[in-house]
Amino acid sequence: MTKRDHFFSVWARGTGLVCPVCAAGIQRDRENLRCGEGHVLSVNRKGYLNVLSRPVHGAYDTGLFTARGLVLDSGLYQPVLQCIQQSLPSGSIRLTDCGCGEGWWLQKVLEIRPDAVGIGMDLSAQAIALATAREAQALWLVADLRNIPLADHSQDVVMNILTPASYREFNRILKPDGCLIKVYPGGRYLREIREKRGMTLYEDGDVEAYLRMHCRDMHTTRVSYEQALSPELAKAMVRMTPLNQDMTEDMREQLEEDAPQTVTIDLYVSVCYL
Ligand SMILES: C[S@@+](CC[C@H](N)C(=O)[O-])C[C@H]1O[C@@H](n2cnc3c(N)ncnc32)[C@H](O)[C@@H]1O
Ligand SMILES: [Zn+2]
Repeated sequence: MTKRDHFFSVWARGTGLVCPVCAAGIQRDRENLRCGEGHVLSVNRKGYLNVLSRPVHGAYDTGLFTARGLVLDSGLYQPVLQCIQQSLPSGSIRLTDCGCGEGWWLQKVLEIRPDAVGIGMDLSAQAIALATAREAQALWLVADLRNIPLADHSQDVVMNILTPASYREFNRILKPDGCLIKVYPGGRYLREIREKRGMTLYEDGDVEAYLRMHCRDMHTTRVSYEQALSPELAKAMVRMTPLNQDMTEDMREQLEEDAPQTVTIDLYVSVCYL
């Protein structure tokens, strides 16, 4: 099966995808999708759809997403993943990962929930190109989560992991009983790297307070642990975090040489009803 065929096989299961220009429903037209108003969406050979009207140069480069894939595939975030998996509603759900990066979280969720229809979207075409290389039953989109090309009330779950949010859009695309699963840092998250950089720890409580303003109900779990890193993983840790995107290549190489041997993962997983 080509990557394009894969896209259409997921799309055919019903994703809630609408025309990004006029929000009308869309039909398949050979290798494209087309809405009633005649807007045409081309699925590229890598098997994803880019709905942005112009390319966006995101803050992160391919090196960050490749390192992120390495760290995530190592299992370092497994306890956080388990918490997310346990938080999913039962039944055959439609789920969108808004700001999915290189796709690990969505792939892993779909592995235990093959009945779910999964959509991964990110502003970065580099991240989505990496995501399409994953063996995941997902539909991948380059899209802005502030303007999501999905129908109103079409999703059971929105995941939003270490990524900015748009509560207006999440509320619009979620079914009335659907939920947002938001993952955000606790104060000690990546403490060792922040200390090496002379940064203060994360402010605890800010995101939670903001979330509360947008939710009618929420339930939060804190997942916190410290883990030893192999030298290879310690280097990848330096490159996978946006904390170090402001550094020159020389500075990053220096930090890799002196990379911390342990890392603290301290994340909140909030299940929110908007
Ligand atoms: C720190 S990364 C996290 C990625 C992934 N959730 C993970 O945990 O590996 C933040 C992600 O948010 C994406 N992002 C930032 N603003 C966005 C927007 N407006 N719409 C879609 N994605 C966005 C970035 O491109 C990046 O992939
Ligand atoms: Zn249209």
